Amino acid sequence: MSRKPQASTLPQEDHVSAWPGRWASLALLTAACALAVVLPDPARAGDAEAGAKVFKTCAACHNVDTDKKKVGPSLKGVIGRQPGSAPDFAYSKAMVEFGAGKTWDVALLTQYLASPRDVVKGTKMAFAGLKKPEDIDNVIAYLQGFSAPQ
Ligand code: HEC
Repeated sequence: MSRKPQASTLPQEDHVSAWPGRWASLALLTAACALAVVLPDPARAGDAEAGAKVFKTCAACHNVDTDKKKVGPSLKGVIGRQPGSAPDFAYSKAMVEFGAGKTWDVALLTQYLASPRDVVKGTKMAFAGLKKPEDIDNVIAYLQGFSAPQ
């Protein structure tokens, strides 16, 4: 007895209450599309915060916030400078020769950090390289924070 009126009103209520929900999801969808257009390609843009964690593996040998060398040269301002050109660091002959006419930019660093000893044969950087492409992108984004904008 009491079921019948319920059955006939329910669909109506559903229909009415569903609309604000639909508008809300439409608005969200629109916002998501707008964001996707504004944000840079997430596949290539590194995340500097994640890069700070990756840099811990470099920090044994490199400073980035001061010009002081460690086992390796300071990486402060490395992006935009010629490989093998930090003053007061005794680079390998291989790194100095490799650097002639080149500049550390994102592309060159991406190659180097994947496999330093393949890219600069004879380098004295005793580091096998970063395996994950996102680690490379992220650590480069971190280094960019300590270099002049390119
Ligand atoms: C075991 C020590 C060590 C580790 C770990 C290490 N490096 Fe190095 N790095 C060196 C040394 C030594 C050199 C100088 C190489 C040469 O002269 O051949 C160097 C050179 C470099 C250069 C070239 C700098 C210039 O002035 O031309 C870059 C860029 C670099 N390292 C980045 C990194 C990054 C990024 C990491 C971490 C992912 C890292 N290195 C890890 C020791 C290290």
